[in-house]
Amino acid sequence: MRYELEADYLPLWKAAQTYQDKRNDKGHAFIVTAYASFIAARENCAATVVIPAAILHDIGWSAVSLEDRMSIFRSDTPKEQKMQARVVHQEQGVLLAKELLEKVQYDTALIPVILEIISQHDSRKGFISNNEGAMRDADKLWRYDEYGFMSDYLNGTGAIADQIKVLEQYIDTEHFFCFESSRQLAKDLLVKLKAKYLP
Ligand SMILES: [Fe+2]
Ligand SMILES: [Fe+2]
Repeated sequence: MRYELEADYLPLWKAAQTYQDKRNDKGHAFIVTAYASFIAARENCAATVVIPAAILHDIGWSAVSLEDRMSIFRSDTPKEQKMQARVVHQEQGVLLAKELLEKVQYDTALIPVILEIISQHDSRKGFISNNEGAMRDADKLWRYDEYGFMSDYLNGTGAIADQIKVLEQYIDTEHFFCFESSRQLAKDLLVKLKAKYLP
């Protein structure tokens, strides 16, 4: 996928840069933003909400200890511990995102909506709007994109075949993807992963 960040969002991108990709997942913010921009255009969402939410969604990891950040990827970390780390990165993310959006003088009418998306992007059941769904679908598509898939694999402790199996199970889980078009894209990406990484 080719993507160039729209010029309007460059100030925000630059302001957020030092807080990005803190889970040994270089490129996460950019790739999620690329998918978010693509989905927003395809599903007629508000790019002015979806793109900043995507840029800022994971900056809160920068305020979480390295051990807690990386424990998310380990299969031996208790579920509750993983959820606690996720909650903290969401809470810290909202605080930091507010600061950065105000710093770049982003449209004040849009800030609460963007912060609402960030506040539960990894923990909310179901979707509150198409804008929120677009951002969260983009975050999930990272796992199916070959680059994100390999990044997650290298951070984890499991076998590549098991990781593919988990992704396959998620695809048809209710409320995993907001848009049918995102689910279809994940399926297409999974076909490519299987062809390349399964014997
Ligand atoms: Fe997150
Ligand atoms: Fe993310």
